[in-house]
Parts: sequence; structure tokens; C-alpha cells
Amino acid sequence: MFKRTHNCGQIRDNDLSSIVQLNGWVNKVRLHGQIIFIDIRDRYGKTQIVFDANEHKNDFENVKKISMEDILSIRGKVRKREKSAINPNLLTGEFEVLVFEFIVLNESKPLPFMLNDRSNAEEDLRLKYRYLELRIDELQKNLIIRHKAYQATRNFLSKNNFVEIETPMLMKSTPEGARDYLVPSRVHKGKFYALPQSPQIYKQILMISGFDRYFQIVKCFRDEDLRADRQPEFTQIDIEMSFVEEEDVFSYMEALTKHIFKVVSGIELPETFQRLTYSEAMETYGTDKPDLRFDMKLIDVKKFTNISEFNAFRDVEMVKGLVVDGGAKYSRRIIDSYTEFVKKYKAKGLAWMKHQNGLFEGGISKFFNLEIQQKMAKKLKMVDGDILFMIGDDSKVVLTALGKLRDEIGKNEKLIEKSNYSPVWVTEFPMFEFDDEENRFFAMHHPFTAPRESDMKLLETDPSNALSRGYDLTMNGYEIAGGSIRIHSPEIQEKIFKLLGLNIDDAIEKFGFLVEALSYGAPPHGGIAFGFDRLVMLLAGTENIRDVIAFPKTTSAASLMDDSPSRVSDSQLKDLAISIKSGN
Ligand code: AMO
Repeated sequence: MFKRTHNCGQIRDNDLSSIVQLNGWVNKVRLHGQIIFIDIRDRYGKTQIVFDANEHKNDFENVKKISMEDILSIRGKVRKREKSAINPNLLTGEFEVLVFEFIVLNESKPLPFMLNDRSNAEEDLRLKYRYLELRIDELQKNLIIRHKAYQATRNFLSKNNFVEIETPMLMKSTPEGARDYLVPSRVHKGKFYALPQSPQIYKQILMISGFDRYFQIVKCFRDEDLRADRQPEFTQIDIEMSFVEEEDVFSYMEALTKHIFKVVSGIELPETFQRLTYSEAMETYGTDKPDLRFDMKLIDVKKFTNISEFNAFRDVEMVKGLVVDGGAKYSRRIIDSYTEFVKKYKAKGLAWMKHQNGLFEGGISKFFNLEIQQKMAKKLKMVDGDILFMIGDDSKVVLTALGKLRDEIGKNEKLIEKSNYSPVWVTEFPMFEFDDEENRFFAMHHPFTAPRESDMKLLETDPSNALSRGYDLTMNGYEIAGGSIRIHSPEIQEKIFKLLGLNIDDAIEKFGFLVEALSYGAPPHGGIAFGFDRLVMLLAGTENIRDVIAFPKTTSAASLMDDSPSRVSDSQLKDLAISIKSGN
């Protein structure tokens, strides 16, 4: 091998006429009779190299055999390309290297898919050959963005006195949240560790131990249904602080987020982030992670539908509308497709009226007299050319379906400026969600989240209306971080466990150590965890979480490259005293 003097993205004017040695993969081959042009590539870039049959009298046949993704080591002389061959898109685009000597370090088998066109291959095939897919420029760039984001995070947090501390990967299985990934113990037969869903308990214990400001860039594991922005193992920037209130957490986290965006991608986020309460976010955007890059709010129209002749909305809990500027142009086919779209979210239908010639027309407009139409148009600020979509149903259905429709129309109408970023804090979440199936409360954040001081009484009288000191940071429709001010009193913590239906024995078995630790001088504390992968998705401008993880899992939690999960040998199972009853 020729030891490289330059990488493949390095050659510039001052290298003209020098002898250079390069190593890299064959990115492209162009045969021109007695001249062969090859682009060789490494993670820094591409360089055009030239084989002239006159220079390779004895081995030109071997040059002809060089093919895609072979790996070459070459020695040659830098020269200017002919004017017509200059590639202005490449930093090395004015130059080429005339090769004197070369070694094929390793040949590549024919490729299972073309690396220059990912979209042409099924994702499963690309994930099986992930090592090939990772050679693609886009993924290399994403992983470098990820690397920069780790560094920016560590720099900012250490400068601000946060201490990086690792917490165990093998821990006690705890209830609440998603399902745990379990790890059987060989030494303690019949017992299991769980992989952490997050280091929540450990970081609170670290505050009790006096570490004051902690962080960790940490893997978390959750056995839950996967989506485009969810993986079974994912990374968090996990943070906890003592002697703080919400405002302290917000100001540090805004500074951290701004620092990461600026340093990694040169993006200036707003000086201070917007805020919405949970109920404002739900009522106005139908979601607790609103995309505020475009306007378009959900508006209550029940008082109008109630006095109209349209009876289908008479007895429903909520009727909301969404005005699309210029939407009167929508054909029947488009309206039908939006109707099918909202049905996916349990809406029974999608009512509509177009505003044209100073009046409502089409859809359900005939059920609204002139006076109601005029009042409605005024309240909804509708003008000719607009359309109003409406859904009436239970509030959950109305908000979810119209919220999703808002996003869909925002995308289709290109209302979203891709280079904009809209960070928003969402606060004042309810403490609990009631699960009808299990007939019990679940913690909306997690069971360690403090209730608002003013809602302490509601815990006794009306827990479903108690609000918490939890908060989320959302951006462009993603929840990028979530956290809370914690309970630091053992009595209140026990009360919350009780409300969550954990009987005292269970609570002691699962969290007793934490309740006990809280009784040894626990400081007031709070924290947050960023979904690191989601942060990198935003920085890299991708909507697929797998594009920012080197070795991601599929939506069925499988790793196609190493074929996991997989069976294990009988002797391994015997060691663990486990027998498999069924499986496929
Ligand atoms: P939470 O469960 O909200 O909070 O998680 C924090 C952030 O982690 C990201 N996230 C995920 N990213 C990818 N794949 C997943 N399966 C996944 N699940 C969550 C989200 C989310 O906002 N211990 C608390 C934090 C705290 O209270 O301090 C916690 O884990 O971006």
C-alpha cells in the first residue's frame, strides 16, 4: 500500500505537479479507450484519477478490470483537468491525478444495490448491507453531524459545571412507561435485570448524593411500538439539576439547544423560546407537539353549528374548524382524500364549506342561514377563496384528527419553510391520564414528577384535574425533550404511587430505595432528557430516525445486518435455567 499523502478531498492549487499517494474506494469508472477515468472516494471527498494506457503498457488489462467499490492505493502526479472537464461542485474538481503506479488493495463483489441511488433499493436490503449504505455521502454527513452534536453537548455542559456520570445498564425492572427489555441472570437463576428505559431513578439519587448538576449521553431501551421517530434503543442527553425551578431548567436548556444548533449547523435559534400550556397546545393545534412553522389554528365553531340547521353536530362534545387560505380551489377528489385521511384518526367524516362570492357555498353550507354565515366568516376571518373544514365528535377525536389534518395540509400546501426552526416549551401537563381499559390512572410524565403546589389539594379531591410541573421541549412537530421538577418529599412520593394504583408493598419492592433515599435530605431538584437522535434528525434535516443512527433497528425491532434477535444455544438457556415454551 502507498501511504497516503493526501485524502481524497484534499488536492488544491498548491499541489499542482506534485507526486501524491491516495487510498480510496472506486466511486465511478469511465472508459475512454486508451484512457480510463476513475473517481476515488473516502470520507473527505472524491478525486478524479486518470490511467493512460501509455503509462501502463504492462498492466492496462488489470486497470480495465477495476470496478465499483474496489479499494485502490495509487501514486501519481497532480495536474489540471481540461477546462471542459472541470467539476465546480467538487472541491477537487479542477484537478486530476495521472496514475503511475497502483495496487488494488481489495476487490468488491458486485454490489447488491447502487450506492449512488439509495431510493432505488428497499430499506430492508440497505439495512442488511448497512456497511455499504454507510459509505453514502448523506449518511456519512449525518454521522459527522451526530459526532459534532456529542462534542457541542459535552463542551457546553462541562463548561457550565455539569458532571458526566455513567449509570448502570443492568438495573431493576420497574413498572410504568414502556415494556422493559429483560436480561436473565445466570448467577441468580430465575431473576432478571432490565435495561434502563432511562436513568431517571439514578439521576435523582445522584442529586440526593450531592452531585448538583449531572449529565450523561446515554443509551435507553424501550420495548414499544416503533415509528419514524422511535427506536427500541435510542440515545438521550440526560440532565438533572439541584436547587432549581422550571425557569432555571428552561434557561440552561435554551442555551444548550441554541449552542448545539449554532456550533453544529450554524443555525441561530430564537433568543427565547415560545411557550404554550398543554391545554393551549391541544386546543389550538390538536397536539402537544405543535409545528409552529406555519399558522392555521383550530377554532371552536360549536356555537355556530349549534344555532344552524346542521343536526349531526348538535349533541357532540366539541366542534372545531380549520380554515385553509385559498382552499376553495380544492376539487371533490381532494376533499374526499382529506375525508379518508381524518377517518384514520377515528373521525366519522369531514364537513366543509367554501367561501365564495361573499357567502359560504357547497358542503354543509345550506344548513347555515345568511346571518350565521356572516358572523362565522367574520369570526374565522374567512375571505373568498378559503375553505373551512369541520369535525364534531368527542374532544379527543376532534383534536387528534384536525391536528393531523393541519399537519397534512401544511405539508401539501408547502406552508412549511424547511429552514425554519420553531422551538416551543409545552408546560402544565395533567398529572395523570386515566386508562379506561385498566380502570386506573397513569402518570403523564412519570411517577416522580411533582404536582403544582396549587394543585396539591386536587390530589385528594379530583386528581384528574391536577396539573404537574412537567414540561416538554418541542420543535417543528417533534418532542425533542421532556422533563419535570421532581417530588423531593417521601410523603408526596408515596401518595403519588398510591394514586397510580401501586399498592404499598409493590411500591416498596419497586421504588422503596428511592422513597427511602428521599428521606435522607433530598434537595429540590429537576431535570430533562433530550431525544438525541431526534435532535440530530432536525440538525441533519431528515424525517427518518434510522438516517442518523449507524446501526438502527427496523420497525419490528430487528437488526437485519447481524440478524438479531436470534436463537441461542440450549446450553446457554440451560445456564440461565430458561426453557422456551413456544416461538416462531
Ligand atoms: P421521555 O420519556 O420523555 O423522558 O424521553 C425523553 C426524550 O427521549 C426521546 N425518546 C425517544 N427517542 C427515540 N426513540 C424512542 N423510543 C424514544 N422515546 C423517547 C424523546 C423524548 O422527549 N426520564 C425522563 C426524562 C426526565 O424526566 O428527565 C424521560 O425519559 O425526544
